[in-house]
Amino acid sequence: MKRTKIIDALNAQAPVQDIRIMGWVRSKRDSKGFSFLALNDGSCLGTIQVIVDHTPEIEAALSRIGTGASVAVSGELVESPGKGQKWEVRGKALEVVGEADQETFPLQKKRHSDEFLRSIAHLRPRTNKFGAMFRMRSRLAQAVHRFFADKGFFYVHTPIITGSDCEGAGEMFRVTSLEAGSREPVENDFFGKPSNLTVSGQLSVEMFALSLGDCYTFGPTFRAENSNTPRHAAEFWMIEPEICFADLADDMDLGEEMIKYLVGHMLDNCAEDVELFAQWVDKSLMSTLETILKEPFERLPYTEAINILMKTKKQFEFPVEWGMDLQTEHERFLCEEKFKKPVYVYDYPKVIKPFYMRMNDDGKTVAAMDCLVPRIGEIIGGSQREERLDVLMARMDEMGLNKEEYWWYLDSRRFGTAPHAGFGMGFERMLMLVTGVHNIRDVIPFPRTPKSLDF
Ligand code: 4AD
Ligand code: MG
Repeated sequence: MKRTKIIDALNAQAPVQDIRIMGWVRSKRDSKGFSFLALNDGSCLGTIQVIVDHTPEIEAALSRIGTGASVAVSGELVESPGKGQKWEVRGKALEVVGEADQETFPLQKKRHSDEFLRSIAHLRPRTNKFGAMFRMRSRLAQAVHRFFADKGFFYVHTPIITGSDCEGAGEMFRVTSLEAGSREPVENDFFGKPSNLTVSGQLSVEMFALSLGDCYTFGPTFRAENSNTPRHAAEFWMIEPEICFADLADDMDLGEEMIKYLVGHMLDNCAEDVELFAQWVDKSLMSTLETILKEPFERLPYTEAINILMKTKKQFEFPVEWGMDLQTEHERFLCEEKFKKPVYVYDYPKVIKPFYMRMNDDGKTVAAMDCLVPRIGEIIGGSQREERLDVLMARMDEMGLNKEEYWWYLDSRRFGTAPHAGFGMGFERMLMLVTGVHNIRDVIPFPRTPKSLDF
């Protein structure tokens, strides 16, 4: 008999004569003459209640079953007389698929701390919270693709191994096939030149936006910065749209539309899992998400943002002056206290931004934007790109970049250049936004952070 997923059994419209459920035991309760099992198979948050009578075969199976064991039950799906569930399974046959030793199985039917669960990241998806998290992670990724597909964007697979340092977006991880500690010259290495894991697919996806029109890339990116914060991971996923014949305002429109779409999609399609986070993780989650859906995002030039930060009575750890990069405390002040909704800050000083951002007429600022959201700070960073070859080359000289290495990038400005813009959204930060979870380590299946590479 084919197995029925628990989500489908729980949503059944009518009783089912023969049903087969397979899953993991969340709890077992024995009564006189029969036992209850609560089974979860990961297909949804809920468990299905199974009742089995104590026949000799079933008792033999039950004696081997504890929390965490995997089992198969065949029987009948009937309306449940008990409270709290519509359907239950009257089990006729019970098989043990895999036992779980009760002395050493680390998940008990109590609340475990996030820190403890990180130390058993291989088992935490078996808990309610992390089951919900990783179902939502999957749905969110699928929603990203749907958002772009509906808008006619093309999905580009940009490379993960790169020969350019991209843009200096972050410290890079070296890729080599040479023995550790080898003194071989780089010419003998696999590519015959230094190679790294990508920090961003942007420069590559720009080439495609200037060919296919609107495009995006969505893949893993790597940064070797030694920043042990709740918002940084060494390996994270980034969504990078690149739109052609478009400017900074179009770019901000797209980011706002995308955040609103993703929030709305998760509320509509993952209600049960979102509810768990609203109840147990962040009591203000629903109101934060409703504000995002309802309110137009604030759009604030950097210079105005600095003025606001200088005028407020609030004390910051990092002093505020024009020309500095905004710190998380400033970002959070702007969207949590000042505007109480997502805020775009745009037109940043050129000295704190990479070479490819489009120079503004003032000669001091570039057409850059960051989107800041409550609890997290920066969720999106992007810009209009410098499409004018002479300005771009002058900027690269100013920053001491080797133009020869970027010959292909410059070609795109030599041949049919066009205004274009794009941004990067941290996928994990988006997931933190829709779950209320504070630590990036708890939204990644197996997080990679400084000095931490288990699993
Ligand atoms: O602002 P960033 O560095 O922008 C870029 O890399 C551009 N090339 C993107 C583009 O225009 N196509 O990174 C973009 C976003 C940030 O806003 C943040 O959400 C996320 O990526 N991010 C990180 N997320 C987790 N861990 C890290 N270490 C991150 N660094 C950036
Ligand atoms: Mg940034």
